[in-house]
Amino acid sequence: MSGEKRIGILTSGGDCAGLNAAIRAVVHRATLTYGWKVIGIREGTMGLLERPLDYRVLGLDSVSGTMMHLGGTILGTTNKGDPFAFPMADGTLKDRSVEIIGGYRELGLEAMIVIGGDGSLGIMRKLALQGGLNLVAIPKTIDNDVGLTESSVGYDTAVAIATEALDRLQPTAASHARVMVLEVMGRDAGHIALAAGIAGGADVILIPEVPYHIESVAAKIRAVRQQGRNFALVVVSEAVRTLDGQELQREYAGGQRRFTGIGTYIGERIAEDTGAETRVTVLGHVQRGSMPSPHDRLLASAFGVHATDLIAKKKFDRMVAWSNREVIDVPIADAIADYRPVDLEGAMIRTARALGICLGD
Ligand code: F6P
Repeated sequence: MSGEKRIGILTSGGDCAGLNAAIRAVVHRATLTYGWKVIGIREGTMGLLERPLDYRVLGLDSVSGTMMHLGGTILGTTNKGDPFAFPMADGTLKDRSVEIIGGYRELGLEAMIVIGGDGSLGIMRKLALQGGLNLVAIPKTIDNDVGLTESSVGYDTAVAIATEALDRLQPTAASHARVMVLEVMGRDAGHIALAAGIAGGADVILIPEVPYHIESVAAKIRAVRQQGRNFALVVVSEAVRTLDGQELQREYAGGQRRFTGIGTYIGERIAEDTGAETRVTVLGHVQRGSMPSPHDRLLASAFGVHATDLIAKKKFDRMVAWSNREVIDVPIADAIADYRPVDLEGAMIRTARALGICLGD
């Protein structure tokens, strides 16, 4: 290795819009301001497990302006393979943390920036503590549930897409006098559903933080009809439970569980209770895979610059965060510990109620 300072960057967990803008900002700041070399590690920690190591050097030429509007991540990512319990081909789980730490050392990295959600940040911090790695984190997730930051990269775009879906569902709902149910992502937090539901003019918004009664939902649909409107829009967050408290999940290869089916379930219950004709749209990964919104590009750029500056100041084990129109940094441990569901006393819930939106309670 040359004497030049090298920093690593990786994206981990589910992708979202704005990751490339964050990578671009780190490369610009590191190269132009500090003269460092940036090593882009491929597919999250997988790139550090491979031998030979799987990475690419990121120069200014590899992060041109076209990256700003590019969805996904040029580095690839993974949301499988916890390095402390890595699924092996023979079905066993193996602790491979030492190999990852070895990969970091082999690359001669002074520090590493991880762009991830709370799950990835927890794993990366554990690795950093074990191996003495210098870690800085950038929060990203469409779910917007990372603590101590008002916004995470990817959330704004997901809300825009879900809002646009409602805008597109409304005319067809009105044309056919239907109740349209839109199921959106969010894992355990209802931020996307609540924000998009308000922005898209929904009549009902169901989120996991607010237990619902189907009678309340049905009453709202009937009230809308009595007011002379022939259609209604319902937004359901994927982690909302069935009436008997079940989470609807499906198991995928490797034992991974993902939410699926609550939109259809709610659509059927509404049809039964109100006699309305319902149709269900499951928005799914469309919420992750598009051109980032300007807000996400700005947030990602500001985060990337600040994260690189933290390395220059040797402030490690910190996560950049958005607070009161500023980028700040907080301990990664505190951000992970402070999981952020929808605030039931917060402005968005108050706004939804004030607009007469039924939250199911
Ligand atoms: O955490 C982001 C997220 O998109 C969740 O909203 C969703 O539940 C999950 O990831 C889907 O994961 P996958 O891409 O593995 O299906």
